[in-house]
Amino acid sequence: MREADNSPLFETKSAKGRTLFKLYAASMAMAICLICVYRVTHTPGKGKTGRYFWVGLFMSELWFTLYWLITQLVRWNPVTHHTFKDKLSHKYENELPGVDIFVCTADPVIEPPLMVINTVLSMMAYDYPPEKLNVYVSDDGGSELMFYALLEASRFCKYWLPFCKRYKIEPRSPSAYFSHASPINNEWSSIKNKYDEMKKRIDDTTRVGKVSEEIRKEHKGFQEWDVGVNKKDHQAIVQILIDERDPESKDTDGKILPGLVYMAREKRPEWHHNFKAGAMNALIRVSSRISNNQIILNVDCDMYSNNSECIRDAMCFFMDEERSQNIAFVQFPQNFENLTPNDLYSNHLLVINDVELGSLDSYGGCLYIGSGCFHRRDTLCGRSYSQDTKIHLGKNNHKKIIESIDVLENECKILASCSYEHNTEWGKEMGLKYGCPVEDIITGLSIKCRGWRSVHLNPERKGFLGLAPTTLLQTLVQTKRWAEGDFQIFLSKYCPLVYGHAKIPLKLQISYCCYLLWAVNCWATLYYVSVPSYCLLARISLFPKLSSYWFVPFVYVFVGKYAYSLGEFYWCGGTVKGWWNDQRMWLYRRLTSYLFGFADVMLKSMGFTTSGFVITSKVSEEEASQRYKKEIMEFGATSPMFNILSTLALVNLFSFVNGVKRVVMDSDIDSFSELVVQMILSGLIILINLPLYEGMFLRKDNGRMPSSVTYQSTFLAILFCTLATI
Ligand SMILES: *[C@@H]1O[C@H](CO)[C@@H](O)[C@H](O)[C@H]1NC(C)=O
Repeated sequence: MREADNSPLFETKSAKGRTLFKLYAASMAMAICLICVYRVTHTPGKGKTGRYFWVGLFMSELWFTLYWLITQLVRWNPVTHHTFKDKLSHKYENELPGVDIFVCTADPVIEPPLMVINTVLSMMAYDYPPEKLNVYVSDDGGSELMFYALLEASRFCKYWLPFCKRYKIEPRSPSAYFSHASPINNEWSSIKNKYDEMKKRIDDTTRVGKVSEEIRKEHKGFQEWDVGVNKKDHQAIVQILIDERDPESKDTDGKILPGLVYMAREKRPEWHHNFKAGAMNALIRVSSRISNNQIILNVDCDMYSNNSECIRDAMCFFMDEERSQNIAFVQFPQNFENLTPNDLYSNHLLVINDVELGSLDSYGGCLYIGSGCFHRRDTLCGRSYSQDTKIHLGKNNHKKIIESIDVLENECKILASCSYEHNTEWGKEMGLKYGCPVEDIITGLSIKCRGWRSVHLNPERKGFLGLAPTTLLQTLVQTKRWAEGDFQIFLSKYCPLVYGHAKIPLKLQISYCCYLLWAVNCWATLYYVSVPSYCLLARISLFPKLSSYWFVPFVYVFVGKYAYSLGEFYWCGGTVKGWWNDQRMWLYRRLTSYLFGFADVMLKSMGFTTSGFVITSKVSEEEASQRYKKEIMEFGATSPMFNILSTLALVNLFSFVNGVKRVVMDSDIDSFSELVVQMILSGLIILINLPLYEGMFLRKDNGRMPSSVTYQSTFLAILFCTLATI
C-alpha cells in the first residue's frame, strides 16, 4: 500500500508516430528548399514580363515557409495526460481544496437566462463535496431577468442535485440531460415536470422582458432594480442566493448546497469596464470575501459541464505530490455540442485541441483560452513561482467569520464598484490583464513568465460543451476578433519573443506566434489566390513546366502537405468531408477574418476607431438553423467579407474557363504546359468554392448570397479579368 501512496496522480505520454512525422517534416523541408532554389535561379530578368509577379509569389512562399516551420514546431512532440482519480479520492478525499466557479454572461438577449442557469446547475452538480463549491455568476447585462432565472435555479437545484447524485446521471445540465434521456421512474417524471414548469416561467418572463410584481415580492434582491437599472449605468449588485450559513440552504436530502451568488458589478459611463476581464477581476475580489476558495474555475455562460468528474481531474494536477508545485492552471479544450457531423464551418478546432495545444504543453504549457480553465487563485492574483515555498492546497487557513449576509453583501458591493480598481494593480499585475480583446492569452502568458507552467487536459469524454457559431458570418467575425486580438499582442510589449525572453523556453515563445501571427497570413494567401489566376489570363507563367524536373518539388510539397493534413484530421477523429470543409474555412478565414483583423489593428494603431467589439449571437432563427443542420452554407447577409470571397471565386472561375477554352479551342498546348500549375490551382479554388457559386446563382432560399453582393462581385471580377487580358 505504501508504494501506491507515493505514486503520481497523473501520467504524461508522448504521442505515437513521431519518428515518421519527423522524417516527413525533413523531406518537406528539402522540397521547400528546392522550390526556393528554383525561384532564385529562374527569376525573370529585369524588364521581362512577370518579374514583379514572380518576386511577389516568392515572397508569399517565403512567408508560407516561415509559418510552416512554426506549425511543425507545434506538432513536434504533443503530449497527453491521464489522471488517476481514484487515487486522488483514496488519498485526499478530506483535504480537497475548495473551488470557486465563475460564470460570465453579458447580455440576456444573446445569452438567454435559461441557457445560463443550465450551465450554472451543471456546475453546482459536480461530483465534489458541495460545501467546497461556490458558483458565482457575473451579469454584465445587469438584468433582473437573469437574477430571476438564477433565483429559480436556486430553488430547482434542491431537487436536481440529489437526483443527479442518486442516479449518477450525466450530463448534469438539465436541458442537455432531458433532451436525450428517457424516463426511469416517478422521481424522474416529477423532476422533469419541475424543470418544464420552471422553464415555462422563465421563458414567459423573458418574453415579457420584465419580472412581474408577484415574483418581485418573493426576494428582497429585486429591490436593487427599483432604482432603474440601465445596462451601462447602474450601482453594484451582489446577492447571495445560497449560503451555507443559512439553515434553509439544504437540498431535499438534507445535504448542504453549493453556494450561489449573483453579481452585477457597478457600471458608469465615465469608467471603462474592460469587458470580460473586468468582470472576472470583480469576481475574484467578491469571491475572495465570500468563500475565498483556492481554486478558480471559469467558464463562459454557454459552456455546461459534460462530465461531473472534471474537478477531480483537475485536482489530480494540483494535488500531485511531486509535480504539482509549479502548475498554475489546467486548461480543458473548448468543445461544442451543436456541431454538425461534417462541421461545415470548421469550429471544432480538432487539430488545435488534439495536436497543437498538446505540443505547447510539452514546451511548458498551453494557452489560457478563457473558458474551461482551472486556476490557482494566488497565481491569478499575481503570485510568482518560487521553489522554496511549497504550496499546500486543501489546508484553507481562511476561517469564515460568521456574519450577517447583509453586511457581507454590502462589503462585496464595494469590491465590485468602478472606483475600486483605481490606482491599483488590478488589470496590470493582478488578475486578468486589460486592454486587449483576447485578455486571456496575455494573462496566461504572463503567468508563465512568472515561472509557472500549465497543463492541457483533453480527455476522451469532453469536460465542457458550449455553442459554436452557426452561420458563416458569425464564424468569420468571431475569428476576426481572435486574429485581431492575437496580432495586437504580437505588436505590443507582450510579444512573447520580447516579453517571454529568458523567462519561457524559446520553443514556447515561437509556438505562441503560431496563433499571434494568424492575421499576417492574409497577404500571402490573398496573393496566391489572385495573382496566379491573373497571370493565367495574361499568359504569364509563374511555375515550372510539366516536363521540367523543377515540377517535382512543387508536386511533392503540395501532395505531401495535403495528404498529411488529411491524415492528421482523420486521426483526430474527423471525417473526410469535414476535412474538405476545414480546408474551405481555412481559406475563407485567411481571406476575410485575418485580413480585416490585420487592417483593424493597423487602423487602431494609427488612432482610427474601427468596427469594434461584436458579440457573436448565440441564438439563430429557425429557418437558418434548419439549414445549419443540413450543412447548407449560410450567406444571407451583406458584408464586405462576402464581396471579397465571391469576387475571388469568380476571378478564378473566369480565368480557369478562359484557360480551358484556349487549350480546347485554340489547341494552344505550348502555353498549357507552362500554365498547367496555375490551371490546377484555379481548378482547386473552384472546387472548394462550389457552395459559394451555388449560393450566388442557384439557391432560392433566404440563406443564399444577397443579389447585391453577387452583382458587385461579378462586376469586380469582370473588371479584374479585363485588366488582365488587355
Ligand atoms: C458528453 O457526455 C456524454 C455522457 O453523458 C457522453 O456520452 C458524450 O460522449 C459526451 N460528449 C462529448 C462530446 O464528449
